[in-house]
Amino acid sequence: MRYIGHGGDVYAAARELGRGVHRLLDFSASINPLGPSPAALRTIQYAEALLSHYPDPACWDLRQALASHWDQPADAFLIGNGSTELIHLLPQALQIRHLLIVGPTFSEYATAMGRSGGRVSMVMGERADGYRPPVGQVMAAMQRTAQAGRGQPAMDAVLLCNPNSPTGHACEAETVGTLASLAARRRLWCIVDETFAEYCVGTSILSRALPARTIVLRSFTKFYGLPGLRVGYAVAKAGVISRMAAQQPPWSVNMLAQRAAVAALQDVRHAGRSLRFMARERARFQKALMRLPDCTVFPSAANFLLIELPVGRQARVVVTALRRQGLLIRDCSQVPGLNDRSMRVAVRTRADNDRLLQALSVAIQGTGR
Ligand SMILES: Cc1ncc(COP(=O)(O)O)c(C=O)c1O
Repeated sequence: MRYIGHGGDVYAAARELGRGVHRLLDFSASINPLGPSPAALRTIQYAEALLSHYPDPACWDLRQALASHWDQPADAFLIGNGSTELIHLLPQALQIRHLLIVGPTFSEYATAMGRSGGRVSMVMGERADGYRPPVGQVMAAMQRTAQAGRGQPAMDAVLLCNPNSPTGHACEAETVGTLASLAARRRLWCIVDETFAEYCVGTSILSRALPARTIVLRSFTKFYGLPGLRVGYAVAKAGVISRMAAQQPPWSVNMLAQRAAVAALQDVRHAGRSLRFMARERARFQKALMRLPDCTVFPSAANFLLIELPVGRQARVVVTALRRQGLLIRDCSQVPGLNDRSMRVAVRTRADNDRLLQALSVAIQGTGR
């Protein structure tokens, strides 16, 4: 069985600790703490009739809703069983053999490349620079690829996660646009993972015309709070979308997921409330975390915070101590480019966050140097 090092696995923790899932606090997956849109929940409650038919393989209504939301043609969208399914379609569909990953970042792209027999290279943001993506280095690597002669192992795609996980850093839309345009000119694919971009609207490149060869990935898991339904989408030129669709198994997105996603997308009130809540609570939580002795907390544009423990402490030890109490947080010590003191916590409700603060404060003092 495959161990997935990201995405909350509350079921495994519940089995291990011998307690129900509802008695765990999951800070390891960053899901909207206000939950899904009430309109999306109502849709599911009354969806019994949908179960006696196959789902719509074209995801027609959801694609129409996205087209109107983003003011793009409906054939620019492909819906997937979570954005994870789409990530795994990319290498095969676009014949990507060598992906340049801007790290430290989400591991699923490297996994997908490994599965398809491709390779990855990484350029890393530096800790001293707040893990800011080294965009200049990425552009230089693209130039070198263009200059590499025939027979040279040249990269054919670049991945930027914006805002990035687990660092929380977001690049301006203009910077990402420049990167994507350069990639198009060099005939490279530019994959932009915008799974957390609902939390920082101005950083998305979806509000402008996408260059050829740019693929943007989005999800209904995080901001829309629907991780269990599995819905994500890709946005790209129609020709790119057809190549990806050709690799996708039929009916991979169930009908409850399609209907709930439409309702969630259209619930502007819940979206506004979620954004206001996150801006307020993230600032409060971050300030409180920074009062933990010698901890560093990196500023975040998303609904999670990257914490670095004091020198001499290990994230693995603190994560294990909290897990025993039913508090799940993400150990980031194995993420290439981060050190063994790094861990990520979701921003949850005020009461949950206070509970974590208290437990963290004890765990940090109690886990020896
Ligand atoms: C940056 C990033 N991209 C994509 C995903 C996949 O999300 P999903 O498959 O739930 O849409 C995740 C989930 O953890 C993520 O953190």
